[in-house]
Amino acid sequence: MKALVIYGSRYGTAKEISERIKDILQEENVDVDLINSDDKKKVQVEDYDLVVAGSGIKMGKWTKNTLNFLKKNRNELSNRKVALFVSCGAANEEKNKAEAQEKYLDNVAAKYLDTEPLATGLFGGVYDPNADHGLMYKLVKRNIEKEMVKMGHDPTKKHDYRDWDAITQWTVDLINK
Ligand SMILES: Cc1cc2nc3c(=O)[nH]c(=O)nc-3n(C[C@H](O)[C@H](O)[C@H](O)COP(=O)(O)O)c2cc1C
Repeated sequence: MKALVIYGSRYGTAKEISERIKDILQEENVDVDLINSDDKKKVQVEDYDLVVAGSGIKMGKWTKNTLNFLKKNRNELSNRKVALFVSCGAANEEKNKAEAQEKYLDNVAAKYLDTEPLATGLFGGVYDPNADHGLMYKLVKRNIEKEMVKMGHDPTKKHDYRDWDAITQWTVDLINK
């Protein structure tokens, strides 16, 4: 089995998830290529049995080049197994997950794929109190901190909301679907 893992990541979180997905697939004896969609490499989707495409979310959006990959390869993707995942802040909190699943995964699958994805993965992100993500982030940071306090989490500390066991299980399940 040959798999492609292609991702878009602005701050490195989805990149690390993609690297983990690659490692797990390799442990399961899958031949894997890992590609950052920003590298704009020529990809022969026909070469792969499984394509895993994922992105971090910024202001409600996947990265442009990951969506471009889905757009450009729409026909080829309709003939093979495709799984989508996102890493987003909304997945850090139980009450925001259903909306995030719909907006960032179900709607993207409906818009860009002709067939149902094999699986969709909604994964959390990393909160770093010292991260400087620009003006837009400064505006929402106060709210994020308030939400964290509500969850009983200390916003002065770094939190990794990625559930690596769930990411591992999600990946292993792809092979058996
Ligand atoms: C400027 C900015 C905007 C963001 N917008 C959203 C958003 O609209 N929805 C959401 O769920 N998470 C949002 N997040 C959280 C990111 O999705 C989360 O940190 C994710 O792990 C980033 O993935 P990446 O590091 O691969 O880019 C935002 C984060 C930043 C810094």
